[in-house]
Amino acid sequence: MEPSLVKISKHCDNLESTADLLSQRIQRLVSEKAGLMNGAVARTLDGDDGDDELHSLRSQNKKLKYRKNILQKSIDEYCLSEGVEAGRSKQANDAAPSVEVSLHHMCAILQNLEQVFIRAVNQAYPQISNPPSVQIQLSKMADYQCNVAMALAKILKENPRIVAQKVLEAVGKSPVIGSLELSGPGFINITLSQSFIREQVTRLITEGVTPPPVEPITVAVDFSSPNIAKEMHVGHLRSTIIGESICRLLEFVGHKVLRINHLGDWGTQFGMLIAHLKDRYPDYLLSPPPIADLQGFYKESKKRFDDDEEFKKRAYAAVVQLQAHEPDHVQAWKLICDISKAEFDKVYARLEVRTEACGESFYQSRMEELVKDLDSRGLLSLEDGRKVMYAENCTVPLTVVKSDGGFTYDTSDMACIKYRIHELGAQWLVYVTDAGQQQHFKSFLACAQRAGIYDPSAVRVDHVTFGVVLGEDRKKFKTRSGDTVRLVELLEEGLSRAEAVLREKGRHEVLTPHEFEKAKTAVAYGCIKYADLCHDRTRDYIFSFDRMLDFKGNTAAYLLYALTRICSIARTAGVSQEALLKAARTAPLELAHEKEWKLARALLRLPDIILRLATDLYLHPLCEYLYELSSVFSEFYDNCYCVEKDESGTVLQVHTSRLLLCEATATVFKHSFALLGINTLDKM
Ligand code: ARG
Repeated sequence: MEPSLVKISKHCDNLESTADLLSQRIQRLVSEKAGLMNGAVARTLDGDDGDDELHSLRSQNKKLKYRKNILQKSIDEYCLSEGVEAGRSKQANDAAPSVEVSLHHMCAILQNLEQVFIRAVNQAYPQISNPPSVQIQLSKMADYQCNVAMALAKILKENPRIVAQKVLEAVGKSPVIGSLELSGPGFINITLSQSFIREQVTRLITEGVTPPPVEPITVAVDFSSPNIAKEMHVGHLRSTIIGESICRLLEFVGHKVLRINHLGDWGTQFGMLIAHLKDRYPDYLLSPPPIADLQGFYKESKKRFDDDEEFKKRAYAAVVQLQAHEPDHVQAWKLICDISKAEFDKVYARLEVRTEACGESFYQSRMEELVKDLDSRGLLSLEDGRKVMYAENCTVPLTVVKSDGGFTYDTSDMACIKYRIHELGAQWLVYVTDAGQQQHFKSFLACAQRAGIYDPSAVRVDHVTFGVVLGEDRKKFKTRSGDTVRLVELLEEGLSRAEAVLREKGRHEVLTPHEFEKAKTAVAYGCIKYADLCHDRTRDYIFSFDRMLDFKGNTAAYLLYALTRICSIARTAGVSQEALLKAARTAPLELAHEKEWKLARALLRLPDIILRLATDLYLHPLCEYLYELSSVFSEFYDNCYCVEKDESGTVLQVHTSRLLLCEATATVFKHSFALLGINTLDKM
């Protein structure tokens, strides 16, 4: 790039970051105001103190963005005329202003084309105030297809081909589009510009996966959330795996993510646990007992609670003491929580999951306040000694206070949503739990709305549900003896199964002991995670080690192996990573063979997929994409020599551009696996 352009581009960067800072400031002001708008005293944003600042920031921001756009446009135009990002539709004219393609990140092509066509429709038919939504899809005839003319023609009562032609002609300059073509009854086929494809693949190699940034907000992701002293079961495993991946995704696109582990660490069960602890280990305060089997301990205390009236009374008394913060009882509670948490942490460490514990106990004082507030506003009604709360469209009321005066799961979720929105300033709440809790979520969200705690137009809430884990017999996943499967044991079994599969393939003879160990762990945990993430999460899924460790089909075992083969291509040709990077930076990528183009196009789909996932929180499309990509890669590899050797194995020719395609494919795989929480391997 010319030095003067580099300068403008830098200036552009600066403007952009200033604009970002301003955006953040605006965002903070808005959420501070949202915090002030607590429930009963909701006010509009306009006309309040501090709005002056907001207005002036907003208008400064607008000006900056405007200046930035002008600069960006001249850079794009320059590049276009110099052939850096040339390529435009033969039919296109200059009627509509161009939709920019940033020089700072990979283009999300679908998103960009959508904008291009929205503008074209507005340009072609300014009289339509409410045009149909533009959807772009992948096409077999070209790269993408836009069918907006069909819907437009209906509104206009015109021939769709004529409408399509008019829209097509209104498409302005676009560095993304190579050509447009009218097809069938009124479809517009879109072929990508070749120089755009080259430039984007090069960027992928030199800078990695960099989708366009989204407007950053604070997202509270509530996931994993097992219950103290109880077994962390496969349902929690699903929540952990799905939640971790959602966090990684949202963090990657730029959101501020609060990873919250809403531990079930409060409630009447602690009464019996503490009472039992006092009986079994009277000196628990001086020498904390090493309870190895907390589940067994839980079962024992439950049995006593059910069978022994006198014990039951003491258990109730212990709860009262705990809730009154009596120090010895608090210490007993803490002891039990710590033992449990240490067990959970073992699972998190193995799976490389990060969570911040903020359990139900945290909300005790907030629950007390909440109940007072709801009561004083007449929102609670008395039913059989319980205080309940109803809301519109929710048949099952919340139990806010039990007849014995205690709080429930409902109460803690009400206090919790209030805390997350009004104290943490979260603008998006995500809860990852099994679908069985749908009713609970519907009810407390409706009640939170009624109480003025949650305003759906200001805060987004997603209950990310998932189906049940089934055994291979299609019944609920259990051990042979009918007990719940302990997660640590399940992970152990995964390891030994992975080891057996790798040994059967003779990998222990090829890999060093250290490499073998790494491969075993990555395959075992990768397979468990991938099996969970690769299908629509709302469906039940069958847990099968045989299936997930299969080296054929859409499994992590297959894909991880495919990736190691891709990584080894350049390695066996003796070409270093540095040499490849240098090649990518210095000469334009040569793409000639049809399969090379096909692979390049497939690689460029990733940014759109990431943006979609980060919006709808379904992860399986990424897995489907990886599986598809692996077969597009195989087609390429079978048809295009990357390295040519003679019979003796001496390298005759290295096709650098093809090695670069391998490199780009590996980058896409590695990055996608990282988003899924799966470690990749160079050798396996
Ligand atoms: N502890 C609950 C369970 O095991 C999950 C908690 C989910 N989070 C929430 N805020 N309700 O089912």
